[in-house]
Amino acid sequence: MSNCFLELINVHKSYRTKSEEIKVLKGIDFCLQRGEIVSIIGESGSGKSTLLHIMGAMDIPDEGKVLIDGSDIATLSLKDRASLRSNKIGFVFQFHYLLPEFTVMENLKIPQMIAGKSGDINYRCDEILNLIGLVDKRDRKPDELSGGQQQLLALGRAMVNKPDLLLMDEPTGNLDEKTSQKVMGKIFEILGKFEISAIVVTHDIKLAMNTEKIYKLFNGKIHLEN
Ligand SMILES: Nc1ncnc2c1ncn2[C@@H]1O[C@H](COP(=O)(O)OP(=O)(O)OP(=O)(O)O)[C@@H](O)[C@H]1O
Ligand SMILES: [Mg+2]
Repeated sequence: MSNCFLELINVHKSYRTKSEEIKVLKGIDFCLQRGEIVSIIGESGSGKSTLLHIMGAMDIPDEGKVLIDGSDIATLSLKDRASLRSNKIGFVFQFHYLLPEFTVMENLKIPQMIAGKSGDINYRCDEILNLIGLVDKRDRKPDELSGGQQQLLALGRAMVNKPDLLLMDEPTGNLDEKTSQKVMGKIFEILGKFEISAIVVTHDIKLAMNTEKIYKLFNGKIHLEN
């Protein structure tokens, strides 16, 4: 048995368009231990988002294996894969994808309802609102929040089902440096408090330096940088 919470073995992924086949991932081997926090850097177009989607069971590789907490995701039904995703993994996307028609509070409630959580959903929302510092914004719509607040809400939404693993794709990509530091400070605080494993894709080397390991994606392969 390996000790990896997330393991990728020889993962390949290509995109086929009408005129060409783009080989993005060309044999990725990767292991993330429980509780580990790492970053992935790489040029624009190198395949970071593609890789993160595969790591989070939102997409499947053309070749190779992805094991999450010991389950080979290719062997799961669509329903079981969706359930694993909503119970074990939180995702903060490159663009926040909050639900614009719904309030802050509703944006936190809906993922819990999708995951079939019972118990006190409102209590859990309040807990998260306190953590991300948006208690007084609970009844606002996402477009009535600042960019930093939207990103904090996206983080809250990713955390609401108590994931084991948080995947973040450029979580501070659209923020100025000061706000970015504030948001990341909050993220690291929460990760530490709940012992959540995390992978953060970023162009920000300062942010990457705050993680335990830095991986670089280059030419379809992943290498440890530090
Ligand atoms: N659905 C798709 N169909 C065809 N090609 C795609 C698709 N999605 C991504 N690609 C291509 O795959 C490559 C990797 O894209 P990806 O979005 O993973 O890069 P990235 O490293 O996340 O870039 P960025 O830093 O700009 O976000 C790019 O060349 C991109 O054009
Ligand atoms: Mg990307």
